Amino acid sequence: MSVAAYIRPDRLQADLDALTAITDPGRPHTRRSFSPHFLEGRAWLADRFRQAGLTTRIDDAGNLIGRRPGTMPDLGTLMSGSHSDTVPDGGRFDGILGVLAALEAARAFADAGLALRHDLDIVDFLAEEPSDFGLSCIGSRGMAGALSAEHRTLRAPWDEGLADAITRMGGAPDRLDTPRRTDIRAFFELHIEQGIVLEQAGIQIGVVDAIAGVTRLDITFTGRADHAGTTPMDLRQDAAVPAAAIVTFVHDQASTLARSGAGHVTATCGVLALSPGASNVVPRAARLVVDIRVSNRPVAEALVASIRSACIEAAAASRTTLARFTIQSDTHPTPCDPALAALVEDAAHAQGFSTRHMVSGAGHDAAFVARLAPTAMLFVPCRDGRSHDPDEWCAPEDATRGTMVLAEALAMRDRID
Ligand code: GLV
Ligand code: MN
Ligand code: MN
Repeated sequence: MSVAAYIRPDRLQADLDALTAITDPGRPHTRRSFSPHFLEGRAWLADRFRQAGLTTRIDDAGNLIGRRPGTMPDLGTLMSGSHSDTVPDGGRFDGILGVLAALEAARAFADAGLALRHDLDIVDFLAEEPSDFGLSCIGSRGMAGALSAEHRTLRAPWDEGLADAITRMGGAPDRLDTPRRTDIRAFFELHIEQGIVLEQAGIQIGVVDAIAGVTRLDITFTGRADHAGTTPMDLRQDAAVPAAAIVTFVHDQASTLARSGAGHVTATCGVLALSPGASNVVPRAARLVVDIRVSNRPVAEALVASIRSACIEAAAASRTTLARFTIQSDTHPTPCDPALAALVEDAAHAQGFSTRHMVSGAGHDAAFVARLAPTAMLFVPCRDGRSHDPDEWCAPEDATRGTMVLAEALAMRDRID
């Protein structure tokens, strides 16, 4: 009998419900990385890992890892996982499905009495979502040796440095200058699609060919605070005015590019903060964070250049100053491993599930693990494509199908040296 037959939907759902219940009160489903509820979720997860017989540890980058030893450890490690942190008011399945499905796969191997030849690591990566340090994918960057000394000096609003925060999570930030792992032979991440493609097409499993690159720009315009009722319109230096122009510029440029066959293109101004932020004061400063996702790197570079020019023009036109234009983070589009993707597809077809190849517009830890090892991602549908919102929902049968394919793909990969 295949290992997929040992996946227990009831056990998976109970775990999803239990971890979901650990949230900031009155703010479902919020477990911000480094917060008390994040740590509570981690303690619960570590306990579940131990109950499944996994040897549990925190690695240098602050990732929680549960290991099921293989019979031929010299072959290296198969790894699977995702993240347990969320965006504010975030999704219920984003991240935790990938961690708990990997855990369920490990339990299914045990129930089937199936010893893998490779070691199997189940991972909860630290801080996949943009954290309060202004950086995402902290644990997977750290594992890949891509968390720079400069990153580690970033500070959170509560005045803690990132290096100290990683230490507080149980990691060793001073060791993150080089890749932490050379033993990983394959990494698999199951995730909800976070879009509507699979649901609309009636397809059960998405096989990811590439993960879009993510570029984030941190932009500040400064003007002059003045009385809103007395300052004549033509004498103002209102910092909100260029910011508003940039929100529209970014939206229009990305829409045009997306329609013009440039591949996957999105751009969003998800942070827009005015200071001092009072109804009767002309804004002195406006800060925006622009999030750009593309599957084609030259498109990202051209879009960043055009936004920079638009910022210079908008500042000049409003008699304000472009006080800051920095690239906060910048990752290139990442191809998944074609052979591993084919194996995921075979595992899905072996269960009778339909598949479709696609690009991931969302960022994932897999994009950093791909620097260390062949990497595959598989998606399951989520209702109405909603994500990063309390309405995010993955039907139990979709969660089960994804977990079955994940377990089967791990078993198939284990048979290859
Ligand atoms: C992660 O959820 C992302 O921002 O893509
Ligand atoms: Mn997310
Ligand atoms: Mn995620």
